[in-house]
Amino acid sequence: MYPFKPGSFAPKNAWYVIGFAHEIGHALVGRTVVNTPLAIYRKENGELVALNGRCPHRHFPLAKSCLEGDVVRCGYHGFAFGPDGQCVDIPSQEHTPLAYRVQTYPIVEHGMWAWAWVGEAEKADPALLPPLAEIGLEGEGLIGHTMFFHEVECRYQLLNDNLFDLSHLAFLHGTSIGTAENASMPEELVKRPGFVSSMRRIKDAPSPPIMHALGIYPTETIDRAMGMESYLPGFHSGITEVAYPANHPQAPGEPISRNRVYHSITPATPRTCYYHFAVAVDETVNVEQMRTNLAPVIDEDIFASVEIEKMIDLYDGEPPRELMVRSDTNAVEGRRMIQAMMDAEAQG
Ligand code: FES
Ligand SMILES: [Fe+2]
Repeated sequence: MYPFKPGSFAPKNAWYVIGFAHEIGHALVGRTVVNTPLAIYRKENGELVALNGRCPHRHFPLAKSCLEGDVVRCGYHGFAFGPDGQCVDIPSQEHTPLAYRVQTYPIVEHGMWAWAWVGEAEKADPALLPPLAEIGLEGEGLIGHTMFFHEVECRYQLLNDNLFDLSHLAFLHGTSIGTAENASMPEELVKRPGFVSSMRRIKDAPSPPIMHALGIYPTETIDRAMGMESYLPGFHSGITEVAYPANHPQAPGEPISRNRVYHSITPATPRTCYYHFAVAVDETVNVEQMRTNLAPVIDEDIFASVEIEKMIDLYDGEPPRELMVRSDTNAVEGRRMIQAMMDAEAQG
């Protein structure tokens, strides 16, 4: 399906963020990952569990059922399933066949997130997760803060496309974090297996309106490096580094701030997805002010993506060919690599 080949939706052999780890406790959480229903919870000993979320009796959602200790008791006719997926009780009969069970899925905590894998379990290698040092959560003195979770009514690739092409900052976020240079400055692009990135180094250009008004960027003009490192298929680590311009009389070229932002995009169904947003900043940053500033920015990205989904719907989900320009290079490559992941799965 658009923008992939007909029949291609999302890779299954991938780690996807299904929640902020600290928000998952001893209570059932329902998620759908690439059309796979999950019932997620933390056992009494703190370990995470991801069970298939469809009760195999009459398809009731196990995530809308109850936990009894570490056992999930279906809310419809009371079948009970242990954390290994084994059915351990059927209230209407004495015998519980060993063959009655639900599938379990690999689930890990890594950074601020819980990640699940709904593809072939033997391929669920934790080494495929984004390295914490590489995304700035280790060794840089930055502190992670979770920010927003949204369930979004659009196909996940629209939010990936949004993050692959930051030239939209100049327009969609033109009143907040973007300036014209976010579109006009050439990009430095990097690609390697499972990864693409784009970086723009903007010199002595006007400070973004909100940042300047709040005094976060103290000078009228500023040097900014802004980029996005995308770990396919759905985790994006944004980098911003800000410095005084080289012609500043008191502090030429000196750093002002740097931070990371994390966008996790998880395909749920073909036309819905989850969006988790988090940041990492140093201890001088007012995190609540940042949350207030960034909430409308994320809302603008969601607005654009949902509107595009509605537009695509007018064409039964397969719109006419897009106009491609130079700034689409990163998105074209990112899409190509995600399609290749799906092609590899289809070939087994
Ligand atoms: S649907 Fe779950 S026990 Fe019947
Ligand atoms: Fe955006």
